[in-house]
Amino acid sequence: MSDAEALNRRLLDEIAAADKLPDRWRPAFLAMPRHLFVPGVIWVNADGGGYTARRRDDDPAAWLEAVYTDDAIITQVDDGATPDTEPGRRISSSTSTPSIVASMLGRLQAEPGMRVLEIGTGTGWNAALLAYMVGEQNVTTIEVDSVIAERARKALAEAGVSPTVVTGDGTDGFQDNAPYDRVIATAAVQHVPYSWVAQTRPGGIILTPWGTAYDNGALVRLVVDEHGAAHGTFVDNTVTFMWLRAQRAPRPEPPADLAGAAESTTTLHPDRVAWENISASFAVGVRLPDVTTKFVDADGGSDDDFTFWAFSGSSWACVDVTDGASAHRVLQHGPRKLWDEIEAAYRWWEQNERPLTGRFGLAVFPDRQYVYLDSLDNPV
Ligand SMILES: C[S@@+](CC[C@H](N)C(=O)[O-])C[C@H]1O[C@@H](n2cnc3c(N)ncnc32)[C@H](O)[C@@H]1O
Repeated sequence: MSDAEALNRRLLDEIAAADKLPDRWRPAFLAMPRHLFVPGVIWVNADGGGYTARRRDDDPAAWLEAVYTDDAIITQVDDGATPDTEPGRRISSSTSTPSIVASMLGRLQAEPGMRVLEIGTGTGWNAALLAYMVGEQNVTTIEVDSVIAERARKALAEAGVSPTVVTGDGTDGFQDNAPYDRVIATAAVQHVPYSWVAQTRPGGIILTPWGTAYDNGALVRLVVDEHGAAHGTFVDNTVTFMWLRAQRAPRPEPPADLAGAAESTTTLHPDRVAWENISASFAVGVRLPDVTTKFVDADGGSDDDFTFWAFSGSSWACVDVTDGASAHRVLQHGPRKLWDEIEAAYRWWEQNERPLTGRFGLAVFPDRQYVYLDSLDNPV
């Protein structure tokens, strides 16, 4: 047994023990090992922020160990604009965490012979696993970045499978090979492109990471109906995928000048609305989908002293947290009182018996889409 095979088997046993590898997918993971798809240059967190390149040739054993660890591997930064001799700033392609890949494939319920559309080819690994399960002629995968698409085509061919790899914007789906039985996205959306629904047969399933500018971490499983609509519940809230390129959330920075802001205090700790409970952050995000947030450590304070920031358009708010204090200073600026809105959204969640993410669902129609709580006729 080669080193790679031994490491692959060790990882698969680990994932299976955590109940995340459906038995029927194990042969695909053995036949399409991850190391065939991970490029020779990967990116890791750099000291002091950003990302730095690691080359397989510099340390082949460390590269292989990283490939067979249950973590995402960054395979491109800054849309390919940064050379691997310089630090990267933003992740733009990766191969997802193996246990997440496995559990998503399980949730997709893809059977041999089904036609599958994947959005976000990346390394091609997920497309290879799908091709092994449903047949290579039944898999279409779309990648927006032409360099990544070409690299995936090559890796897939070398691994012995040739699904259709389309270079293009997955927002449009791929009409030529429709209708699909299954659509799986491996990039997150804030709005499900209606083309995915239109290109899926009635009864077909769409599985996609979904989020808001406030909170990115949910996975929704939609079933398409006879009338050209799709709906279904959120089935997970622990998966953070990069955004579909056209749906990237803004990443504003705190203003240098705080003059003119209205000052107040709050007893609600920002951790409670944005971090501590994933169902709470999800719900606040559903109520305030366009609000982005940022935690900034305080200079020279304790590790638990920080400022929580919220932004939307020209409005911003911040909450200064001192460890152990029972009330925190709030500044709000602009046409919207963002901290007040966040507090109200959090209170809404509390008053509705603190629903877990799984009680929410998403409905997608040709002309609108909305999140509901418990039933379609109860939009949030
Ligand atoms: C997390 S990676 C996908 C991982 C991949 N499935 C694998 O097995 O390696 C997300 C990919 O989606 C791609 N992407 C982003 N926006 C896209 C779009 N609008 N259409 C198609 N692909 C897109 C990115 O370039 C990136 O390669």
